[in-house]
Amino acid sequence: MEESVSALTIDQLNETFGVEGRVSFKSSDGGLPVADITASEGQATIYPHGGHVATFQPTGEDPVLWMSGKSHFESGKPIRGGIPVCWPWFGPHPTDSEKPAHGFARTSEWTVVGSDVTSDGEVVLRLELRQEDVNPAWSFPFSLILEVTVGRSLSGALTTRNLGDAPMSITEALHSYFTVSDVSNVEVQGLENTIYEDALDDDARRTQQGPIRFAAETDRVYVDTEGECRIVDPGLNRVIRVSKQGSRSTVVWNPWTDKSIRMPDFGDDEFHGMLCVETANARGDAVTIQPGQSHRARVTIRVEGIRRDSPR
Ligand code: BG6
Repeated sequence: MEESVSALTIDQLNETFGVEGRVSFKSSDGGLPVADITASEGQATIYPHGGHVATFQPTGEDPVLWMSGKSHFESGKPIRGGIPVCWPWFGPHPTDSEKPAHGFARTSEWTVVGSDVTSDGEVVLRLELRQEDVNPAWSFPFSLILEVTVGRSLSGALTTRNLGDAPMSITEALHSYFTVSDVSNVEVQGLENTIYEDALDDDARRTQQGPIRFAAETDRVYVDTEGECRIVDPGLNRVIRVSKQGSRSTVVWNPWTDKSIRMPDFGDDEFHGMLCVETANARGDAVTIQPGQSHRARVTIRVEGIRRDSPR
């Protein structure tokens, strides 16, 4: 089904994009519409608010994405957990500190534009944000499409199209929050020997030695990194593989103690059970899109058990 309709009621969303047993829309506790997705090998929930994948669970596995028990689910506020879309800037606005961190896409109301079921039983949901959906205004005409594919793995493809007549520069992230057994006992593999900018030390550039382990607040942008990351979690006996295309930065974040306490929508002790590994184009990896052209960043998340011959 392909259609562009905004501000539909739950009934209209179900009539237009619902698929029996696969895609159904309901009103969440906070009153926001949410899509329940049931693929043959996995489940997810997706909010048009923020174009936000909130949960993902392959059949028979533990939940993969993390969600704060203190998250807001309210218009105008970002959801804390799942996969926020940071766009058209990542982190603080480069020149105007009054503007919201991580851009406006995560707090805007997106339009559902399509749903499909593939022959493999994967379910696809498409959402779009356009210049006219954004308040306050942004000067570049654009279309931003998020295509989420749910199955045994989850993928999110974020396509920015420049509908204006001037080049448009963006930074962005699919800011995925992962559930871990205990962040002190996991490691992230795949970024060894790459350069990162340490946001906790004036963006000092360092080289990653070995896998990443966590014993304090961590907030880093790994630059020019396009490969797969693996979150190895012996406590949950699983590896989360995060692979990507069209993304040259990887952000790794855990707020640890003090920052958790400062964030109102994040429980003081919740940092133990989460870790962000983000598919980004941040800072020096900004993307410039010419008029009429588009850019796509895509993340694929899959889970496998830890094999005996795994490094840990
Ligand atoms: C990360 C940033 O991507 O997002 C951190 O690197 C930031 O600096 C974190 O604290 C959460 O941001 P926010 O705006 O959702 O609190």
